[in-house]
Amino acid sequence: MHIDIITVVPELLESPFSHSIMKRASDKGLLTIALHNLRNYSKNNYKQVDDYQYGGGAGMVMMIEPIDRCISELKEKRDYDEVIYLSPDGELLNQKVANYLSLQKNLILLCGHYKGVDERVREHLITKEISIGNYVLSGGELAAAVLVDSIGRLLPGVLNNETSALEDSFQDNLIAPPVYTRPAEYKGWKVPDILTSGNTPKIAEWRAEQSFIRTKKRRPDLLKEHE
Ligand code: ADE
Repeated sequence: MHIDIITVVPELLESPFSHSIMKRASDKGLLTIALHNLRNYSKNNYKQVDDYQYGGGAGMVMMIEPIDRCISELKEKRDYDEVIYLSPDGELLNQKVANYLSLQKNLILLCGHYKGVDERVREHLITKEISIGNYVLSGGELAAAVLVDSIGRLLPGVLNNETSALEDSFQDNLIAPPVYTRPAEYKGWKVPDILTSGNTPKIAEWRAEQSFIRTKKRRPDLLKEHE
C-alpha cells in the first residue's frame, strides 16, 4: 500500500512512522508513506497556503490552489482509491473504516489546519472525510498518524502473528479479553487458574465469555450495533 500525506507541518509526521510496527511495515516494503509539504505547491513568494475568509470572521482558511496542484501532481503518477481529508466533522474512525482502508492500494491524506480548507476542496477533490474523535485537534497531522497506524497494522505480513490483528478489540464489535503474563502470582494477585490449566478449548471459551462480559460492562453501545 502507498499513502501520500499532504501537510504544512511534515516534521510532525516524521517520527510516528519510523519506529516499531510502522517501521517494520515500511522495511518489509508493505507500506510506503510519502510526505508532501503543501508550501512547496504555493506560487506565492511567501509560500502562503492560507488566506482570510470571504464574508469575514476570525481564522484563516487553506486555499484550494496549492492543494489542487499537489493532488493533481500526485494523480499523474498513481490512481487513488480515496482522497481523505482529516477533519473533526468527518466520519468517525472505527475498526470497520480501518479494515476497509487497509484493503485499498493508494491513498492520499490531506491534513487540515487553521479554520479548515476552502469548501470547494471538500466538494471537488476529496472523496472521504475522517475524524478520529469528537474533539478538535490543532491540525490533521496527529489524526493522520492515528489513521495510518490503524491501517498499517492490518496489512498482511505486518504483524508477526497474522491472527493477532483479527483478535484485536473491535474486530467483532467486541472488546479483547484480559491478558496476563509471568509471574502467575504477584503480591497475592493471581492469574485466573483457567489460563494456566493448559486446556485450550476451555481457555478459548473463557476468553470469548470475558470478551462479551467486558463489552457489556464497558461498551454496551458495541453490542447494540449487532442488533
Ligand atoms: N483535525 C482536527 N481535529 C480532528 C479530528 N478530531 N479528527 C481528524 N482530524 C482533525
